[in-house]
Amino acid sequence: MAPASPLFVLVFLAVTAPLSASAGAALVFPDEALPTKSGYLPIPPANASLFFAFYEATRPLTPPASTPLLLWLQGGPGCSGLVGNFFELGPYFVNPDSVHLSPNPFAWNRRFGLLFIDSPLGTGFSAAPCPADIPTNQSVIAVHILAALQSFLALDPSFRARPFFLTGESYAGKYVPAAGAHILDVNPTLPEALRVNLRGVAIGNGLTHPVAQVATHADAAYFSGLINAWQKRELEALQAEAVALTRAERWREAADARGRVLSRLQNMTGLATLYDAAKQRPYRTDPVGAFLNRPEAKAALGARGDVAWEECSDAVGAAMHADVMRSVVPQVESLLRRTRVLLYQGVRDLRDGVVSTEAWLGEVRWDGLPAFLDADRAVWRTRADGELAGYVQRSGALAHVVVYSAGHLVPADNGLAAQEMIEDWVLGTGLFGRRGGDGRRRAA
Ligand SMILES: *[C@@H]1O[C@H](CO)[C@@H](O)[C@H](O)[C@H]1NC(C)=O
Ligand SMILES: *[C@@H]1O[C@H](CO)[C@@H](O)[C@H](O)[C@H]1NC(C)=O
Ligand SMILES: *[C@@H]1O[C@H](CO)[C@@H](O)[C@H](O)[C@H]1NC(C)=O
Repeated sequence: MAPASPLFVLVFLAVTAPLSASAGAALVFPDEALPTKSGYLPIPPANASLFFAFYEATRPLTPPASTPLLLWLQGGPGCSGLVGNFFELGPYFVNPDSVHLSPNPFAWNRRFGLLFIDSPLGTGFSAAPCPADIPTNQSVIAVHILAALQSFLALDPSFRARPFFLTGESYAGKYVPAAGAHILDVNPTLPEALRVNLRGVAIGNGLTHPVAQVATHADAAYFSGLINAWQKRELEALQAEAVALTRAERWREAADARGRVLSRLQNMTGLATLYDAAKQRPYRTDPVGAFLNRPEAKAALGARGDVAWEECSDAVGAAMHADVMRSVVPQVESLLRRTRVLLYQGVRDLRDGVVSTEAWLGEVRWDGLPAFLDADRAVWRTRADGELAGYVQRSGALAHVVVYSAGHLVPADNGLAAQEMIEDWVLGTGLFGRRGGDGRRRAA
């Protein structure tokens, strides 16, 4: 990669001055790790706002006015975007000592401005004014995300024209399609100066069409050798309950039934985590919480000192329980007709992995589907070192990427591949360029 020109370096030094850095804060939060902007973005319920942290691009390939902006949404439901920030794809990670930060060489804000928002209301530093304000469905969350985004875009007159991409992981497989479709629905009703320049959405290891996804766990585990035929039949029976309850629209019971499938699978396999079949221990995110609950860290981020940060909010999980088994495939279909969609999964995830996505992808109602299903699945190697990074299948608006050497939290497990993927997909280069990977399968 060509180094950034001196012009860009100067420009970005000028805009990355920290908002607030007390002397105490500097002890835990080096200036270079501070967000370019952070704080709270107002949303509709009275006195409500969503916490955000924004990091400007450090080495953009484009002039500032056309440098893409990415919003990252965490899953859960109810897990904080700051897990993404400090454990997966932000510019600095919290060290295991929970005291120091270290630069992430594979940060997503190398080429792009990167925005993290604690959503839904009630998540992370986004305390809800009262419990009844916590959303219970995707429509409300989409409205809140757009409102927060409008507040964010108003912070700097140059933000609005920049190409905007909605990204996220896991339960954000619901938020991203819901918010993306909502933005594109609302845009034509807004004055031009208030439209959001949405150019694409990306979902990592998403839960998007749960009724199809819940039916894949037995197969995925059996064909990986993690369970035997007898155990497979037992899991299939549990899956059938979840499917039947979903079809009957008994949403809470259906979500409980899905929970039983996952806990039985966990029990049968003895894995440390279903999020990654190769790990002996769960993802070690605890230091992020210890760090973020230090008063100096809250002050440095502009977060409310009176809010205890939780990695995932039980209150949000409870409020969203009846949403778990609901599908957002219609919103994905509506996005495929209007913008670009990237679906990527770490290959080692047993919860929302590759098989789980394939289960619904082949059935989306979209004119481009036959060509997509007919496209080659290209082997993808990283440009940096030629290592196997995964597989890319794409045609028209849709790209499906399998990331090798990764579980559920792809950027945490294979940062190099994740960074190349997001940069190439956003910029339309490499495997996502005109000449890369968009192959028709050769006639047999
Ligand atoms: C909003 O906050 C103000 C100031 O704390 C308070 O007076 C008002 O009652 C609040 N409104 C609601 C609807 O909570
Ligand atoms: C979502 O929740 C809001 C607030 O409770 C409610 O007014 C609305 O009808 C719900 N929408 C759907 C589609 O269920
Ligand atoms: C699975 O569940 C059984 C019965 O509750 C329990 O005895 C066993 O220890 C569990 N195994 C694992 C690996 O969690």
